[in-house]
Amino acid sequence: MKQLVVYSSQSGNTKKIAEELFRQLPEEKDIFPVSEAPDPGAYDVICIGFWLKDDQPDPASQAYLKKCGNKKLFLFASHGAAKGSNPAKIGMNKAIELAEGATILGTFSCQGEVPQSVIDAAANKDPQPDWLADAPSAKGHPNTNDFIDLSEALTKAGLKTEAREDKGGLIDGSHAM
Ligand SMILES: Cc1cc2nc3c(=O)[nH]c(=O)nc-3n(C[C@H](O)[C@H](O)[C@H](O)COP(=O)(O)O)c2cc1C
Repeated sequence: MKQLVVYSSQSGNTKKIAEELFRQLPEEKDIFPVSEAPDPGAYDVICIGFWLKDDQPDPASQAYLKKCGNKKLFLFASHGAAKGSNPAKIGMNKAIELAEGATILGTFSCQGEVPQSVIDAAANKDPQPDWLADAPSAKGHPNTNDFIDLSEALTKAGLKTEAREDKGGLIDGSHAM
């Protein structure tokens, strides 16, 4: 099974997730930033990573998602909004819509640290965006716990077999009572 990881990242958060995801994938695999991404046709599964901009996947990712309508996809994202919050769900649903016709194997998203300049600019907007109140709590994300959740999402999607890794200090939960 040939797998492709494509990501868009302005300040590095989604890139970190993409690189960890790539590391965790067991099979034949390639990784590219979206600006250099190959045609999806040659791959069985494509993992597409984006960041949320104005409640939507960033523009470069939107264009790539539209090209992947007949593929099997795993979608991942970073955002300033809290994990599982409405703005986070709306953004992921928008990505699923853009890839209309694709088979969605799974999704993962978590917070990604928002630069103070971006927080300040959003605070000056009227009305202020929904995600702004959560943005300070994005500091330090993505982190090790996010990568454990990512591992579980990949396992659930059938893209890796072990639930957790014992490498790098993560706990192997596979024998837990
Ligand atoms: C111009 C701009 C708009 C943003 N809009 C949103 C948004 O609508 N919702 C949200 O949750 N986060 C928003 N964010 C925060 C980013 O999605 C978040 O910091 C993300 O982790 C950035 O990913 P990156 O480091 O891969 O570029 C925005 C950030 C910027 C710079």
